[in-house]
Amino acid sequence: MDGTQRDRSEAGRGAAGTPTRVRFARRGDAAVWRALQQGIYDEGCWFVGDGPPSETALAARLQHVSRDRAVVWLAERGGRAVGWCEASRLAAARLEHVAWLTVAVAQGSRGVGVGRALLSEAEAWARQWGLRKLSLHVRSGNVAAIGLYRRLGFELEGVERGQVRHGGTFEDNLIMAKHLVPPESPE
Ligand SMILES: CC(C)(COP(=O)(O)OP(=O)(O)OC[C@H]1O[C@@H](n2cnc3c(N)ncnc32)[C@H](O)[C@@H]1OP(=O)(O)O)[C@@H](O)C(=O)NCCC(=O)NCCS
Repeated sequence: MDGTQRDRSEAGRGAAGTPTRVRFARRGDAAVWRALQQGIYDEGCWFVGDGPPSETALAARLQHVSRDRAVVWLAERGGRAVGWCEASRLAAARLEHVAWLTVAVAQGSRGVGVGRALLSEAEAWARQWGLRKLSLHVRSGNVAAIGLYRRLGFELEGVERGQVRHGGTFEDNLIMAKHLVPPESPE
């Protein structure tokens, strides 16, 4: 397993000089991960799902992560989990060069580089495993997330019009991606 180094990685320092540490999530992190997810869902405006999976379901996912296929990282500051990133690849041979990402940072820990640290870790992982592309979905009104993705080199790839119900209106969903290898270049 090549993840040991990444388990120890540190990236980014916030305003107060507190380092952000990014590490692989483990089975024992299920409760903390769920609490982070609940916090994001409680804000009611970022994720499209109805709520987080149960702690049991998250523990099962963490137990069965495969370091080259489905990974979860936790970001910690001052010993406290403040964000996470998930990356997963489909098994199909025609699609396995792409990883789909989700990233989120707890409300009180935004704007100090945690999102950037998590995505940098995800990109390093993707390059390590020879992936060619990182993809993600984001609601068109999510200014901070779109700003983060653009900052890190993600570009718009598609728009799903009226995809997300939001109050009485329907919001577009954007598909953004970062190509680690130009799409036209052969294997
Ligand atoms: C989107 C999110 C992950 C950003 O994480 P973060 O830790 O606050 O971002 P960082 O501090 O690492 O910022 C990195 C870059 O992102 C961009 N960015 C961050 N917040 C921004 C904002 N509010 N507006 C515009 N750009 C922003 C900036 O370019 C920033 O770089 P800079 O500080 O050098 O200008 C965070 O706001 C979040 O978790 N939001 C709620 C959950 C969510 O929307 N997840 C994504 C679902 S698709």
